[in-house]
Amino acid sequence: MLKKEIQSALNKQVAMEEHASRSYLALALWADEAGFEGAAALFYKQTEEERGHMMKFIKYVLEAGGSPVVSDYGKPLPRPKSFKNLFEIGLEHEKAVTKSIHAIAELAWKEKDMATFNFLQWFIAEQVEEEDSFQTILNKIGLIEEHGGSLYMLDRELAMKVGK
Ligand SMILES: [Fe+2]
Ligand SMILES: [Fe+2]
Repeated sequence: MLKKEIQSALNKQVAMEEHASRSYLALALWADEAGFEGAAALFYKQTEEERGHMMKFIKYVLEAGGSPVVSDYGKPLPRPKSFKNLFEIGLEHEKAVTKSIHAIAELAWKEKDMATFNFLQWFIAEQVEEEDSFQTILNKIGLIEEHGGSLYMLDRELAMKVGK
């Protein structure tokens, strides 16, 4: 049986993942309207992934004998000011999600709820990937800003040569 405090933290995370899903949909629409097809596709995909995360939390709360709640998901993320800003917003948001998941893991550890602690490990690893994915895009934007597109293309060619 889930402790009340842990159940409420997990339910807050349900809302946060739903918020991420809706926010990324809004970011996808911004990118689509601006003509950034690739970025739009990436954020449409993220929308689905975040919904999947929400469902994982809901299913876990149910399996652990708790009662999942679909609550208010809060304010939308700011509207991007530029292509680069789109990914800055994404990265900031992922960092906030990481912080929240780590806090639940700490609580689970403190309460000796090893099942919840174990369940959260997948999310802890997933957040490393999600932050890295936005950070990598921002690094590439930085390279283009600094060196121009041609060096970026050359580096891409090198990466492709080694099958990356
Ligand atoms: Fe997520
Ligand atoms: Fe995410």
